[in-house]
Amino acid sequence: MKYYEGHEHAYQKLEAAGHDCWDKTAFDAFYMRPFLEAALKRLGPPGASERSLEIGCGTGPITCLLAERGYDALGVDISATAVRMAAKNAAARKLKAEFKVQDVLKMEGEALFDLIVDGHCLHCIVFNEERASLYAALLRLLKPGGALVMETMARHPDVRFDKAFLLDEKGVLWLHFPKGNPEDLKRIGDNLYHPNRRILRDVELSAELRRAGFAIEFEHTEKQEKAEETWLYQAIARKT
Ligand SMILES: C[S@@+](CC[C@H](N)C(=O)[O-])C[C@H]1O[C@@H](n2cnc3c(N)ncnc32)[C@H](O)[C@@H]1O
Repeated sequence: MKYYEGHEHAYQKLEAAGHDCWDKTAFDAFYMRPFLEAALKRLGPPGASERSLEIGCGTGPITCLLAERGYDALGVDISATAVRMAAKNAAARKLKAEFKVQDVLKMEGEALFDLIVDGHCLHCIVFNEERASLYAALLRLLKPGGALVMETMARHPDVRFDKAFLLDEKGVLWLHFPKGNPEDLKRIGDNLYHPNRRILRDVELSAELRRAGFAIEFEHTEKQEKAEETWLYQAIARKT
């Protein structure tokens, strides 16, 4: 099992507890909504049959909003439970959106989408080679002129985490966790750590996007005051 498949267990617990979304509050008040609304306004309304893809769609709030706004919307996630919950959430709202179980590191196809949205999936992919191949896939999947709208964790300069976590010099956040795929575990002293997130500085995220071949049209870092809270890097980038 890959380290990023751990969300499946979390979704099973959410479903059993009767929640319909990741942040356990309101499906329609998801965390990325303010930035996504602003980005959609900037991009303008979709034309007929414009297609959107959300990577790591979870239980579907973002993909549902995109369907509501007129996109032919597809959401993909590695968690089968999340995908099932997403389809149920869309059906309850009478929205025509498609959801598929898919590892975003194994996506195929070319020039299929006008818009791709990342609502906190990219920071689940921690290693450089994997991130580079994900960016390459996103660029390949976008139509020329298509847009990537992303919101991802960024590093507070005085970052401080609970002692169950360890942030290494590359920005990989490791969680003390004695179970998991042995290939992905890191031993420090007597403890085993499991990859959990990639938390880069905003300038590093910006450089990563440019290196991947995207043209950044807008970027902003949403800064939190407390060192225990991560910042959020938001960007609209184009395939030129
Ligand atoms: C923080 S959740 C965000 C969910 C969703 N965007 C939302 O707004 O509720 C991150 C999601 O990324 C998914 N994910 C992580 N790695 C993935 C991968 N390699 N392929 C597909 N989905 C992945 C997780 O299963 C999880 O649902």
